[in-house]
Amino acid sequence: KTTFMGIDMGSDEFSSGIGESLAKVEELLLAELSSGEDFLTEAATHLAKAGGKRFRPVFALLSSQFGPNPHASEVITASTVVELIHLATLYHDDVMDEAELRRGAVSANARWSNSVAILAGDFLFARASRLVSTLGPESVLIIADTFAELVTGQMRETIGNPSGTDPVDHYLRVVWEKTASLIAAAGRFGGMTSGATDDDIERLSRLGDAIGTAFQVSDDIIDISSQPGDSGKNPGTDLREGVHTLPVLYALTEQGPDADRLRELLLSASGERLPLTDDAEVAEALGLLNASAGMVRARETLAGYAERAYSELAQLPDNEAKKALTSLVSYTVERIG
Ligand code: FPP
Ligand code: MG
Ligand code: MG
Repeated sequence: KTTFMGIDMGSDEFSSGIGESLAKVEELLLAELSSGEDFLTEAATHLAKAGGKRFRPVFALLSSQFGPNPHASEVITASTVVELIHLATLYHDDVMDEAELRRGAVSANARWSNSVAILAGDFLFARASRLVSTLGPESVLIIADTFAELVTGQMRETIGNPSGTDPVDHYLRVVWEKTASLIAAAGRFGGMTSGATDDDIERLSRLGDAIGTAFQVSDDIIDISSQPGDSGKNPGTDLREGVHTLPVLYALTEQGPDADRLRELLLSASGERLPLTDDAEVAEALGLLNASAGMVRARETLAGYAERAYSELAQLPDNEAKKALTSLVSYTVERIG
């Protein structure tokens, strides 16, 4: 049996079908990234070769199982396009975040320079555009709109939430724009290219939205609740970067001495977010957060997105992809422990 992120991908016959499609996506991805001048190829293939879960193509391929033609070549093209767009944004994101590492490998900006990383990202976008043009104007429109959402989310995050507006609302909007929108587009593309009904295409898009948001929220919870060494990640990474995720935003609205102490640790006198540098302070903040009602609310929010995903799945026809997707949703809830 094939598993993806530890999730059962159905019977051998089905999962090897997905596996074969995924291998074709991988082949097309590397072919597109290696199709420029030699000096471009190394930088352009760098992040794809560094690994990654290929979550968006997997979701597009699973979504394609709801249409009559899951083996259409357009399904492979569409699945590759979403991964190319995702990878392009990561090159640019690492420049903006001045990240040294990506997927356990040195980032393109750290290895070469910001200019090389930005241009490599642009090259990926050019290759994605070229591929999506073969799918027709409707697909080009979807990718153009999704691209604008990604940029809007990144810009909204950069600017921060204006004073007097709800930080939770701001946070969830950024998550939708920056992450869920592309996963929703992956579901839409999988449905469209395999000839699914219009209703099912809309369901797959909403399913991608719910799964994408649930994944982000569960990541945020794990960054607070995990034990060091638990998942190969160190808890408190977001706090060290001064990033306030959903549980933190909820906890900061609470009353009482614990919430007061949390505000003292995480906010400056003028209310600016402070990155935590001291290990003892990180440990203290994590302790307060884990005991907070904010953490309970974040778990409830996650459960709400999982519920949305399940209700979209309930409307889709029964098949092996539906089983795999159902397991994927329960995994986002169960992995937080
Ligand atoms: C990672 O977030 C970033 C994204 C999911 C989207 C970034 C979007 C852009 C850079 C828009 C512009 C794109 C192009 C190609 C013009 P993160 O920094 O929170 O997470 P990380 O831990 O993966 O770095
Ligand atoms: Mg980043
Ligand atoms: Mg970023």
